[in-house]
Amino acid sequence: MTAAGLRAALISTDAGFRGQLRDILLDEGVGATLALEIHERFAAFGEKQVRELRHVNAELLILDLQDDPELGVQFAQFLSNTHPGHRILAVGPALSHEMLLSAMRAGVADYQIKPVNVDALRDSISRLSQSLGRGGAKAKRLGHIYTLFSPKGGSGVTSVATNLAVVLHRLTSKRTLLVDLDLELGEVALHLGVQPRFNFVDMVQNFHRMDADLLASYIEQHESGVHLLSAPFHPVRAEAPSGDEIRRILHFLRQHYDYVIVDTPKTFSPGTLAAFDQSELVLLVTNVDLPSLRNIQRGLPMLKRALPRGESQIRLIVNRYHSGGDITLADVERTLSLKASGTIRNDYDAVIGSINTGKPIVLNGKSKYTQDVRAIGAELAGLTTGPGSANGRGVVSRLLGRVRRKPQEKKP
Ligand SMILES: Nc1ncnc2c1ncn2[C@@H]1O[C@H](COP(=O)(O)OP(=O)(O)OP(=O)(O)O)[C@@H](O)[C@H]1O
Ligand SMILES: [Mg+2]
Repeated sequence: MTAAGLRAALISTDAGFRGQLRDILLDEGVGATLALEIHERFAAFGEKQVRELRHVNAELLILDLQDDPELGVQFAQFLSNTHPGHRILAVGPALSHEMLLSAMRAGVADYQIKPVNVDALRDSISRLSQSLGRGGAKAKRLGHIYTLFSPKGGSGVTSVATNLAVVLHRLTSKRTLLVDLDLELGEVALHLGVQPRFNFVDMVQNFHRMDADLLASYIEQHESGVHLLSAPFHPVRAEAPSGDEIRRILHFLRQHYDYVIVDTPKTFSPGTLAAFDQSELVLLVTNVDLPSLRNIQRGLPMLKRALPRGESQIRLIVNRYHSGGDITLADVERTLSLKASGTIRNDYDAVIGSINTGKPIVLNGKSKYTQDVRAIGAELAGLTTGPGSANGRGVVSRLLGRVRRKPQEKKP
């Protein structure tokens, strides 16, 4: 599916503005896609640029007059004479009254002074797209991004991410994507038993031309119905994507999926921070042992700072939990000053067996692990937990922030 909006062409010598505009047009709700970018100065324009413009037959022309407002207005006039029927949106420095009038007479439908206000520019593009009868794309509801993280390696983050994605998809039948942001040693593909053809880094490299069709070619479809955007097989270093690139991609992905579940490495890497920034919730995974609690305690301040709404976005998941251990759930909660939103019982044979066979454990049905992850998934999906949600006591109210008691609950 390609955005149903109109084709836009951008003429600007300003790389910063071109980046801003690309970001705006990534949002399908705006109703336009970028078909051509021209970077040359107006003084250097010739047959080549005119031919390119004619070839893409853009309906919306975005002209940056910064480089030479006078020549820019003349070019707008030329375009209006030779390409009637399109709309011109111009940006640039504050213009004199006369120059602004000339721009309007030359066919400029809207003029915005740089640095542009991104929201105003987005509105302007939407309006022009509507006026051409091509917009009408109502703002799309963005999907939920849930990021799984632990500052302590080996806590079970990847297992929970993988199984939670499968559970959410099974419970809701909604479009669910699992993203492996552990770009050095990611193992999600292994957990799902797939051999991806493409990975996250390929996507970064081709993001400038990304649309829904191209996205589909980077995604692996697992038999469970969950989609996967994998980490590279070989660790990336030189070509490691920047935080900004990852942020943009996650924003793009939530326009195409109802749930985006992100697996992260144990470090506060730029990618991990970008994921926090885009996430609705971070599911912080800990085990019930001192080294885990110590690491989480040390990482918590950084995590809270990285989240736009701080602690309210953190959900603590206690993994490999077994009641009767030296450290109780109350100890964990007191130590971290966080309530546990869910617990997942220790079930080593089932978990390692599922990883080794590349079959998510929740597809096997009966394990304790499955019951507990299902309870967490049900809560996230806004469904009531069923009787099988062992040890999910209090999970609903904690996750949803309200108290909901089971009627007639009997004490043993
Ligand atoms: N609830 C559980 N019960 C028993 N074993 C578990 C449980 N959860 C995870 N494990 C085991 O812990 C190990 C690490 O799991 P996983 O790879 O999911 O952790 P991780 O936090 O992603 O690790 P890394 O830091 O290497 O990315 C696996 O071998 C798995 O078998
Ligand atoms: Mg992992």
